[in-house]
Amino acid sequence: MSFSLRPAGPQDIDFLTDMLVEASDWQGVKSGGLPQQDRRVTVLADPKVAGYIDGWLRDGDAGVVAVDSEHRPIGASWTRLFTKDAPAFGFVSPEVPELAIGIVKSWRGKGIGRRLLREVVTMTGLAGYDRLSLSVDVDNPAKQLYASEGFEVIETRPTAVTMLKTL
Ligand SMILES: CC(C)(COP(=O)(O)OP(=O)(O)OC[C@H]1O[C@@H](n2cnc3c(N)ncnc32)[C@H](O)[C@@H]1OP(=O)(O)O)[C@@H](O)C(=O)NCCC(=O)NCCS
Repeated sequence: MSFSLRPAGPQDIDFLTDMLVEASDWQGVKSGGLPQQDRRVTVLADPKVAGYIDGWLRDGDAGVVAVDSEHRPIGASWTRLFTKDAPAFGFVSPEVPELAIGIVKSWRGKGIGRRLLREVVTMTGLAGYDRLSLSVDVDNPAKQLYASEGFEVIETRPTAVTMLKTL
């Protein structure tokens, strides 16, 4: 099992969309059992979810793709800036990018998510931002990953929290 990281480019939109579906429907309750194309349509029907990937790669977007030894994508994490008028779920301010992350199911639990997260945190700091936010469901075990990498809960909603890391 070996993997490496590379920057995400415009050609990665389909893979990132698949990872967004994994992140948004991590329990499979919205779209589990459907063919992937139908999963996408179902999950992206929520404009607030689609907002994480619409028009990728636009100004302010940045991301990293994990690939296996044959260069096949197996995970991705990316950030995007949002506005007060069109916020995503973990919106803090127009100057604070928000992170999304997903790993292909068969590759989870092998340290790829933590590597991607650290890489995106580093990239975001190098790009000059001083904070990075995200939204995670309260019962998603990913919350532990974020907490262990220095993200703190700054807002609690009925089913999700917003977490923020100072860079
Ligand atoms: C969450 C996710 C990105 C983590 O990536 P990963 O490669 O599986 O995680 P790693 O192997 O790097 O593990 C890092 C930590 O994640 C946490 N974690 C993530 N998923 C977990 C699970 N299902 N059960 C237990 N711990 C989990 C653990 O704290 C783990 O820490 P450890 O290494 O000390 O055990 C990945 O599991 C995933 O894509 N999940 C579905 C999509 C999703 O939920 N995205 C996040 C939405 S906010």
